[in-house]
Amino acid sequence: MSQTQDNITLLTASSLARHYRFGSSLVKALDGVDLDVRRGEFLGIVGASGSGKSTLLNLLGGLDTPTAGAIRTAEGDLNRMNPRRLARYRATEVGMIFQSFNLVPHRSALGNVELALYFLDVPLRRRRALAAEMLTRVGLADRLEHRPADLSGGEQQRVAIARALVKNPALLLADEPTGNLDRDATHMIGDILADWNRGGGTVIMVTHNLDLARARAHRVLRMDYGRFVAEDLSAGGLE
Ligand SMILES: Nc1ncnc2c1ncn2[C@@H]1O[C@H](COP(=O)(O)OP(=O)(O)OP(=O)(O)O)[C@@H](O)[C@H]1O
Ligand SMILES: [Mg+2]
Repeated sequence: MSQTQDNITLLTASSLARHYRFGSSLVKALDGVDLDVRRGEFLGIVGASGSGKSTLLNLLGGLDTPTAGAIRTAEGDLNRMNPRRLARYRATEVGMIFQSFNLVPHRSALGNVELALYFLDVPLRRRRALAAEMLTRVGLADRLEHRPADLSGGEQQRVAIARALVKNPALLLADEPTGNLDRDATHMIGDILADWNRGGGTVIMVTHNLDLARARAHRVLRMDYGRFVAEDLSAGGLE
């Protein structure tokens, strides 16, 4: 297991809450979370379905706004950023991957990855070169022109990872990235994330697969009813 984190805090969430009003009831999807993520850390998060894991990732990625609490980053306090700066933060600092890949169906693998650089004012030729380079890094050099429907699940997820990493984000948020994949593909995705982390990248990975989390993450936390429970699950790592 690598230990590349350098004790510099990348982001801090304090008393973070996200409540949904649903009819007459209140769903406390996130109910007071404190979290310190260090630069270069690989953090694993596990927890039952509905415990608030995706809600947390969406807040950290600036896709959603908390009901209470704050997220502090080097770029400033996420809830205080104006929409333009927040959009910039999302585009430059955060890469996200999801269980369902979320690729654009009519674009090729190359087109999907290149899209991540479109809003960053990178010229087309450079975008294509960077996208091809990143797809090569995830083992898809011979699939650049394939559309998502013509790729396997594991390959689609590697395209999604390439799309998330091509902009070299400060933070990679992975929400159940291997949930739809078999063992071999899961292993390959784990290798790619661990490699990127060894190069200094910060990863937060949500997964139902405790073995995967223990094998890849420096630290594993469990969510329960919208909070982190105290137990340390990192022990018993497989590597
Ligand atoms: N838009 C919404 N309106 C009302 N309730 C919501 C909304 N989004 C999420 N919730 C509720 O918040 C809780 C946490 O949801 P979340 O998606 O974060 O869980 P999760 O831990 O990611 O679960 P899973 O492992 O199944 O993906 C759930 O009870 C869910 O029903
Ligand atoms: Mg979820």
